[in-house]
Amino acid sequence: MKHFTSVHDIPNLNQWVNEALKIKSDPLGFVDIGGQKTLGLVFLNPSLRTRMSTQKAAMNLGMNTMVINMDKEGWRLEMNDNVIMDGFTVEHIKEAAAVLGQYCDVLGLRCFPNLKDRNEDYSEEVLNKFIKYCGVPVVSLESATRHPLQSFADLITIKEMATKSKPKVVLTWAPHVKPLPQAVSNSFSEWMIKAQELDMVDFVITHPEGYELAEEFTKGAKITTNQNEALKDADFVYVKNWSSYSKYGEILTDGKGWMIDNEKLKLTDNAKVLHCLPVRRGLELADEILDGPNSLVIHEAGNRVYAAQTALKKLIEINRI
Ligand code: CP
Repeated sequence: MKHFTSVHDIPNLNQWVNEALKIKSDPLGFVDIGGQKTLGLVFLNPSLRTRMSTQKAAMNLGMNTMVINMDKEGWRLEMNDNVIMDGFTVEHIKEAAAVLGQYCDVLGLRCFPNLKDRNEDYSEEVLNKFIKYCGVPVVSLESATRHPLQSFADLITIKEMATKSKPKVVLTWAPHVKPLPQAVSNSFSEWMIKAQELDMVDFVITHPEGYELAEEFTKGAKITTNQNEALKDADFVYVKNWSSYSKYGEILTDGKGWMIDNEKLKLTDNAKVLHCLPVRRGLELADEILDGPNSLVIHEAGNRVYAAQTALKKLIEINRI
């Protein structure tokens, strides 16, 4: 594993989850492993949890961190090759990534999709060019199509809080007023399908017509447009909005009736509710859920530290950083 950008980088998922829970029980148990090496965190888009939890994870491992909000503080980057840079872009990704690689032993990158050109977004051009030119191991802090540190924290949370050996996990689409990326949902689905193959969960996806995710991320999941049917006997409900993949980046419905509230929770087996955050109250999720005993959203956000700490520890060990 040279880089950590998806569940496919993990050789043994069960072992990683167990290691994360071990780290959680003693967060400073590996404080010497980082050896004062430098983690650079590069954000092309906003963040609260990813930024703070990854910094905390690095500190727990004895690493130094440097953060740059490239969207506000850096030069505007050029991604295309063979262009005459006589427009708004100031620095090419070739130089920017290579220079960052001179200062850092590991780099994290957040790069959202533009939601305009599906082929461009799903080619992961920005992440791949960054990896190509920086020359050091890279951790995805959410790319155009995936959010692996979030999904890892989600799986840790499910394993930690499950009262059954194979809980039913439902990913449900939720309403939103803005077109959001599919990255969190793609990634969650991909991780749950891998967990399902290992008999760790039983996984179902539910969404309105037209919100089908790309098949490469959902193959192996049960999928239904009947939310009530999906929620039946669920042990965990993962709530997330995403914009349409087929009509790329579009909002197709106001989603009335899709918000999870206490009435919908009655259909489940007293399910615990997850959301990656930030969440729009009263639109994506009812206040009564977020403020109630079934919400795991804060616990889940706390586990972002142990997901990041495990991924960084593995990168350090495997790459002998
Ligand atoms: N869930 C998540 O990634 O949160 P941020 O966008 O605040 O980092």
